[in-house]
Amino acid sequence: MINVSPKLRDDCLDVSRQEPIARGNMRNVYEHPELPDKLVKTIRPEIVNRLGFRTTDSQLKNMRPEGCYKIFVREITEYLIQCRKQYASRYKHPGLPIVHLFGVIHTNEGIGLVTEKISTGQGELAPTYHELKRSGKLRPEHLYALEDFLDHCYSLGIVFSDIHIKNIVYTETRTGRPECVCIDGFGEKSFVPIHRWSKRLNERKLDRIAIRLHRQLGVYQVQTAPKTAWAIFPRPRALLEYSLKKSLAYGSLILICGLMYFSVGTWLGSDQDDLNATEVLEQVKP
Ligand SMILES: Nc1ncnc2c1ncn2[C@@H]1O[C@H](COP(=O)(O)OP(=O)(O)O)[C@@H](O)[C@H]1O
Ligand SMILES: [Mg+2]
Repeated sequence: MINVSPKLRDDCLDVSRQEPIARGNMRNVYEHPELPDKLVKTIRPEIVNRLGFRTTDSQLKNMRPEGCYKIFVREITEYLIQCRKQYASRYKHPGLPIVHLFGVIHTNEGIGLVTEKISTGQGELAPTYHELKRSGKLRPEHLYALEDFLDHCYSLGIVFSDIHIKNIVYTETRTGRPECVCIDGFGEKSFVPIHRWSKRLNERKLDRIAIRLHRQLGVYQVQTAPKTAWAIFPRPRALLEYSLKKSLAYGSLILICGLMYFSVGTWLGSDQDDLNATEVLEQVKP
């Protein structure tokens, strides 16, 4: 990806004298000093250890070599996948329902991800759905925009990892029409990327996301006719998906172990065979 050079000392952005414009559980969000329509997101230094792993993560989760940057990897990967899908129209702006990414930059809080700033007409950060709900400003137009957003995500097959109403913002200035943009929580989280592989499984996940978002907003989704027989039995369906996920994950692990065992075994065995063959040859020597 392009490294946006801010022409700052040593190409490193010093954010120590800048107050974050927003904060999440994991990241500090700063305004880009030279590009007013961009933001820089860094991982909060207080949750990262000296080796670059998150202190809040278990040892198992910390096995990923990207460490605290795995969230960036996940988002960049999903963004690139969506851009690749629109490769044919590569000269056109992709207009995705997820925030646009512009590369990474060095800061004195580690690597920063440069993203599009979703703002209101007055240049402030666009409100999240959580803020709209909390302040009692949630209106029908916000809900219509949310429905369009979900439809767009279904049609593009966007994979989400951690989506809730704090990670979706509402704006009317991005494209000149009311819309929702996901600013965090996209990309595949599973070890085996089944949602990326299976459109159907991803659609079922999007169904659950839609239900969760509506529940968090305290609104009821218009019930549509179930698309499949499975939709009538949500519990067995969820159970089946869960077991499929788990068996895929464990199945691939067993397969990898089996392959490793087989290749090591063959390698050792071949040495043994050579030894045996030499002994036999020596015995039959006149
Ligand atoms: N691109 C963006 N445009 C507008 N606001 C944003 C953007 N990115 C983040 N924010 C604001 O910053 C907050 C924290 O950012 P987020 O990326 O969600 O951090 P975390 O990964 O720690 O949850 C968000 O809830 C939102 O209010
Ligand atoms: Mg967030």
